[in-house]
Amino acid sequence: MSLDGGLAPALEVEDLVKRFPAGNRMLGGDGVVHAVEGVSFAIAPGELLGLVGESGSGKTTVANCVLRLVEPTSGTIRLRGVDITRLSRRQLRPHRRHLHMVFQDPYSSLNPRLTTGQIVAEPLRLHGLARGKALDGKIAALFDLVGLRPELRFRYPHELSGGQRQRVGLARALSVEPSVLVADEPVSALDVSVQAAILNLLRDLQASMGFSCLFITHDLATVEYLCDRVAVMYLGKIVETAPTHELFDSPKHPYTQALLSAAVTPDPEQQRGRRRIVLTGEIPSPLDPPSGCAFRTRCPLAHRSAPRSVDEEPVLRDVGRGHLVACHLVGPGGEAPRLADERLGVA
Ligand SMILES: Nc1ncnc2c1ncn2[C@@H]1O[C@H](COP(=O)(O)OP(=O)(O)O)[C@@H](O)[C@H]1O
Ligand SMILES: [Mg+2]
Repeated sequence: MSLDGGLAPALEVEDLVKRFPAGNRMLGGDGVVHAVEGVSFAIAPGELLGLVGESGSGKTTVANCVLRLVEPTSGTIRLRGVDITRLSRRQLRPHRRHLHMVFQDPYSSLNPRLTTGQIVAEPLRLHGLARGKALDGKIAALFDLVGLRPELRFRYPHELSGGQRQRVGLARALSVEPSVLVADEPVSALDVSVQAAILNLLRDLQASMGFSCLFITHDLATVEYLCDRVAVMYLGKIVETAPTHELFDSPKHPYTQALLSAAVTPDPEQQRGRRRIVLTGEIPSPLDPPSGCAFRTRCPLAHRSAPRSVDEEPVLRDVGRGHLVACHLVGPGGEAPRLADERLGVA
């Protein structure tokens, strides 16, 4: 994919598939968990891409594959134009500093036996980027950057609040000035009262340091606030992607429309124009995903596209303005199906 100015994307994921053995065929399906089924996206240098979807849609698995914490079943991951999918641990090492992760749970993701200063220093040491006095100065600067008092560097993670720990996680991830930051629900384990402060910090750091970010969340309001572009995942697949303002102004997939109708927006005008669409049932099991359109079992409009929705999988189609959507009901020019006409499932 060619992006602005012909620059290679900071991160490119192509047709990523991850299947886990389920261990128990009695649970149904083919004994395989279809966690991620053909996900593709590219993040331009300095771009923030939001990956949204309900719990179980495969977001964390995408992140883990990108970081090579789990091995992809198939597909390609390119970091700054370099295919890192099949590199060995040793080959991967020089590329690692360009890709760092902030985890969902700041309580379990920091080594409890190290002081926070040691935790932040670790990547710098590992990549041989600083030592001695220079390392000391670097850590002090990083603590300052993320708004932590200098004396906290001699404390252990359990002595810190959740918000402070996540600041340590950010300082650690950004210590080596990565090109890409992967943040997997970095605030969802935190008190609501500190969530905004961490998000503001992330936004300020991104603006000053210019890294690209894959920001994973189930919360659309956060995406609207933070991200340049959004990809919506459902049952292991991206069903819609667009620039943030375009997606919020003109959601096309019934799933995105439902998610948006339930989200709180700061714009009362926009809120009034929306009807609340209640999705019935749970996300289906990735052990036995529905045939055809994976969303059809919960789609209030599925009957309109039957039997096509049962037989044929909708593919992501470009409908203009950088907007791609995978739905049989969306017209060739991006005409969205009108859920408001429908009584089924609409409150
Ligand atoms: N190691 C694993 N073994 C088996 N199934 C897994 C494993 N990791 C994730 N899954 C399954 O893959 C699906 C996607 O999970 P996940 O990527 O964590 O979704 P999300 O982050 O969107 O909540 C879920 O059904 C989950 O149970
Ligand atoms: Mg997750």
